[in-house]
Amino acid sequence: MKFSIKTDQLDKQLSDVLVIGVYESLKVVCEKLSLSPSANGHIASALKQGDMSGKVGSSLILYNVPGIKIPKILLIGLGKEKEFDGKKYHAAVRSMVYALKKMDVKSVTSQLQIAPVEEGDIAWNVEHFINEVMDASYEFTELKTINKKTKKFFDFFVVVDKKSQKIAEEALKKSFALAKGIELTKTLGNLPPNICTPTYLGKKAQEIGKEHGMKIDVLDQKQIEKLKMGSFLGVAKGSRQPPKFIVLQHNKGKKTQKPIVLVGKGITFDAGGISIKPAGDMDEMKYDMCGAASVLGTFKTIGLLKLPMNVIGIIPTCENLPDGLALKPGDILTSMSGQTIEVLNTDAEGRLILCDALTYAERFNPDVVIDIATLTGACVIALGHHASGLYSNDDKLAKDLESAGQVSMDRAWRMPLWEDYQSQLDSNFADMANIGGRAGGSITAACFLSRFAKKYKWAHLDIAGTAWKSGKAKGATGRPVGLLTQYILSKLY
Ligand code: BES
Ligand code: MN
Ligand code: ZN
Repeated sequence: MKFSIKTDQLDKQLSDVLVIGVYESLKVVCEKLSLSPSANGHIASALKQGDMSGKVGSSLILYNVPGIKIPKILLIGLGKEKEFDGKKYHAAVRSMVYALKKMDVKSVTSQLQIAPVEEGDIAWNVEHFINEVMDASYEFTELKTINKKTKKFFDFFVVVDKKSQKIAEEALKKSFALAKGIELTKTLGNLPPNICTPTYLGKKAQEIGKEHGMKIDVLDQKQIEKLKMGSFLGVAKGSRQPPKFIVLQHNKGKKTQKPIVLVGKGITFDAGGISIKPAGDMDEMKYDMCGAASVLGTFKTIGLLKLPMNVIGIIPTCENLPDGLALKPGDILTSMSGQTIEVLNTDAEGRLILCDALTYAERFNPDVVIDIATLTGACVIALGHHASGLYSNDDKLAKDLESAGQVSMDRAWRMPLWEDYQSQLDSNFADMANIGGRAGGSITAACFLSRFAKKYKWAHLDIAGTAWKSGKAKGATGRPVGLLTQYILSKLY
């Protein structure tokens, strides 16, 4: 996909198709559009024929409209004018992509990006246009031998008026970088676990680092042992794939600026270990590295944007499998922090690898630490697939993340982290157990992590419900790269 900003008159543009929005009232969105009276008349009378409802999802193609050089016009339904909002806007852009895929066109002039939405100024519109186009046109075809070539590429001309040109161009740059980060996160999530191993993630990190001038360290088993990450190593024991501990450093801010640290859960396959999971849908546990993937995606984005900031990424990555040498229920691990953990369920492994990464994060003297993890099925029960679970020991950080989610439409909902829940983690034999029972399972998982994050401002995003979709449209969503990028950008100004 290619996007460029144009300021010429719409009807003078040369491309294969012109896209225009239409409300249910059949009002054409043409405030900034200077179509000739004959073109307007033609479109109006075509709409009167009744073949297009104007509802979101409806569309109509017109050919050779008088007064317009572009040979095809694609009308896209926007729904009721009064109800038009950001969500409807996204849906309209998606339906445009689906309609375009069925057409024989390559270059697209679009006026859709300035359909007025409540949220929005030009920058918002352009950003969400580009991100939604990229999202709707994403296909994971890398491993299909036949329909590899069905992927369609379009060249989009986004038309704005002259005075908005600069803002629109900046928005384009930002959203294209974001879309590239999201694309990477999706692809890493969708890759099968026999390809996307801890070693593979390490190589990807190195690639990103090389492209964007970041310092990358991929620590191996020996180096991890030296750091005394007994909890992380406990999980890794049951796998033949060597664990990796990946550290990315984007140090492009002032020396005095404390870094934002992102920590991503990188379980490249979670069979549950000895506390093995049921067979149904177990394939989906390849997505258990989506936290790690969202850190890598966010680094790709900030790399492309050359953000003058200090951001650190930390990824503990391994598999969680049953084996003769695997972690057993009843085992007691000594974490890097020195705290001991009784493993009552080997399937609660995410917190076991994250806790050592959280301790490691201390050495960066962080401004804030945010961990991102497909941590609990309980979070999916609590919040479904729309919001990520948000926990924090700092109200300001929680608020900032909430509003970054709101702006990027990649929302998170704050959950309690009250002291009351902590006692569910009591163990008779160690400092704590790794599970707290079924009640409030997402909360007690966060409580566990909080014990390793006392030395700094910390937030935890449980993305078990938001990182991928099940069912027919199975696949990674790229969340919460939008939220994380928005949060980081909000600290820039
Ligand atoms: N990776 C899973 C969490 C998960 C489950 C994400 C389903 C998405 C969908 C995690 O490692 C896990 O297995 N958690 C357990 C914890 C339990 C044993 C306390 C869970 O949620 O069942
Ligand atoms: Mn698990
Ligand atoms: Zn897991």
